[in-house]
Amino acid sequence: MGARRRKLIVVSNRGPVTYGRDGDERVTRRGGGGLVTALRGLVAHHDVTWVASAMSEEDRAVVEEAGGEAVEETLESGASFRLRLVAHDETAYDWFYNVVSNPILWFLQHYLWELAYTPTIDVALKKAWDEGYARVNEGFADAIVEELELDPDATVFFHDYHLYLAPRFVRERVPDALLAHFVHIPWPQPDYWHVLPKAMRQAIHDGLLANDVIGFHAHRWRVNFLRSASDLVGADSNFVDSTADYRERRASVGTHPISVDVAEFEELAQSDEVLAAERELLERRPEKVILRVDRTDPSKNIVRGFRAFELYLEAHPESHMKVGMLALLDPSRQDIPEYSEYLGAIQREARRVNDRFQQDGWMPIDVVIEDNFPGAIAAYKQFDVLFVNAIFDGLNLVSKEAPLVNERDGVVLLSENTGAYEELGEWVLRVNPFDVAGQADALDRALTMAPDERRERLAAIRAHLREHDVAAWTDAQLAELDRSAARVG
Ligand code: G6P
Repeated sequence: MGARRRKLIVVSNRGPVTYGRDGDERVTRRGGGGLVTALRGLVAHHDVTWVASAMSEEDRAVVEEAGGEAVEETLESGASFRLRLVAHDETAYDWFYNVVSNPILWFLQHYLWELAYTPTIDVALKKAWDEGYARVNEGFADAIVEELELDPDATVFFHDYHLYLAPRFVRERVPDALLAHFVHIPWPQPDYWHVLPKAMRQAIHDGLLANDVIGFHAHRWRVNFLRSASDLVGADSNFVDSTADYRERRASVGTHPISVDVAEFEELAQSDEVLAAERELLERRPEKVILRVDRTDPSKNIVRGFRAFELYLEAHPESHMKVGMLALLDPSRQDIPEYSEYLGAIQREARRVNDRFQQDGWMPIDVVIEDNFPGAIAAYKQFDVLFVNAIFDGLNLVSKEAPLVNERDGVVLLSENTGAYEELGEWVLRVNPFDVAGQADALDRALTMAPDERRERLAAIRAHLREHDVAAWTDAQLAELDRSAARVG
């Protein structure tokens, strides 16, 4: 896309690689989740120093050997970057990740609470906030300030809900730094933030507004942010220019839906690993495959998805023995009770539906619980229907990745509460995540759609993705930063 190479300090809790051990050898593994998958593309085009949390024991060993400094790392694509892992205090990190970031912030931003019962904000949470969330954010800020000392021209690019306080900490110490933040998850409406005590909800907004540029995947989340910045901390939000003035700074707030590295994906789809996984899949595939690929996260709405498939099977006996749902589920955040309980609920529901309908070797729902990226890509190639019914989702990268490599003119069912729906709505079948009857109808519609219509819809999605790929996403962010730098400078 022709943008010049930049010096970027990319900051995210999860890094693009994590270290492990295989016998005596140190091995690197690909970091999971949509954010890291999408951001890996940045490394190819820019001079990146990536600051992330040390998560595994081996990550900590790497930090110790490097004396806390960055190490050189290379992705499979051959692109190299500096990786600076931050080894936080382990208790502080546990509070940060398992108490505040996921059960509180992730739940809040995806509207996952049943407010009559949860959450209860007690002394333990306040402690976890101060001594966990804030402390880990300070740890990130320390690392970033050191990196900025080495390279004062670098732009800092924060990602996601783990890091809401860090921009303010950096701004206080390096007032002229160029700071951008991308929020990969939904931004809820202002009132919902009132579940959090005033000090916390204000600190979150105050921290984010220390950035020069703030990005979201969808207009819906961007507008909610402009509203809550005004309601909760009194920022002067301008909905026409999409800016928020606060504490003598102006933050530009943009909508930039992230995308896929098209070439990398197409290449991956032909790799030996994926082809091997595909062969295995072909041996056991039913005539028609309904595919879902998710982390086992309550926001992904997996249990209702199985219920919708049950309703479909009930209404369509002719589909028995022919149609199967393949659920490839990456186990996620299992130290958090809400997540392990949800995984239990997924298994129970699949079992219930299978017990009701399975016959003669046909199992309606095939649940595979493992982190298997090549396996997911193989399944992307083979689906007839892709089923994405998330309760809320900042973007949902699966809905972009899968159509790109699909070889069966598959139809995409997409929740209207995903950021991606704003882009792909015209070509997908819309589903309301709570309406299981509607989802069952949509499954029928997808499975009986005429071949021409299927082909046209898929081709339109692909054309859109080729034009709006991950490089276009990066360029749009950086162009916004340039405008902001020109204004400040
Ligand atoms: C989502 C979030 C990311 C996160 C990923 C995986 O995509 O937006 O910030 O990294 O989930 O979750 P995890 O907790 O395993 O990093």
